[in-house]
Amino acid sequence: MADPNELLAVAVSIVRSAAELARTLRAQGIGEVSTKSTPTDVVTAADRAVERHVIEFLHETRPDDAVLGEETGQTGEMVAPSAVRWILDPIDGTVNYLYGLPQYAVSLGAEVGGQVVAGVVRNPATGDEWTATLGGGAWRAGRRLACSTVTDLGQALVGTGFGYDPARRAHQATVVAALLPRVRDIRRFGAASIDLCLTAEGSLDAYFEKGLNPWDSAAGGLVATEAGALVTGLNGAPPGPGFVLAAPPTIHDLLHAELAELDAAGGP
Ligand code: IPD
Repeated sequence: MADPNELLAVAVSIVRSAAELARTLRAQGIGEVSTKSTPTDVVTAADRAVERHVIEFLHETRPDDAVLGEETGQTGEMVAPSAVRWILDPIDGTVNYLYGLPQYAVSLGAEVGGQVVAGVVRNPATGDEWTATLGGGAWRAGRRLACSTVTDLGQALVGTGFGYDPARRAHQATVVAALLPRVRDIRRFGAASIDLCLTAEGSLDAYFEKGLNPWDSAAGGLVATEAGALVTGLNGAPPGPGFVLAAPPTIHDLLHAELAELDAAGGP
């Protein structure tokens, strides 16, 4: 089986180069912008260029691996004995990127046998970089990360995010409206991978979102888990497109109960 540390080294090296490309392209001007699923779901020329850059590198250096990228879908085969699938979001937080807000990331996870075993999330604007390997902990700038130990939901700073479908957003708004008076505050920063890493380091106490794609949560989900957070779905479901809740064991069940009562995984 592929060694998670070797996969992490590959991931860190290509993500640093991809982050530099994203930053440089942003400095040159935003260029062509188009929309995807809805008018609010944007994609820039940079999303595509950064994705191409990473995929070409991975196919050249690890030809037996497959890559699932946000803009391209899946390319390559998972060839035994490697059977690695890379999961890439070239620019997570594309709307922030479009507006020049410094909260966006290149996110890359390596999945073996359906389990993410290594991941890196890097913010090109700030240089912040979070890494994790399965069983090897979560790290930022040489410091091992541990999630929050808050025990009172009323003292919890909770992150969330919204999908691009208007009907889904309307349901998400009802959840946020009901949850807001029950927690310290709610943040919506606009890049799910970073939200998960902030939960890993305790800068957010918890994070939840309905409708994430694998590329939004692959690397950040491992970082949060390795920092001690419980990363789950709702009502016994595994974390996934249905729902992702990342929270420290001290408040996971309390927040889960609130979100289940509010049917946060329901609606369109
Ligand atoms: C989006 C961001 C956002 C989250 C959305 C994602 P994208 O990813 O992570 O924070 O709320 O659900 O789709 O489109 O910028 O790669």
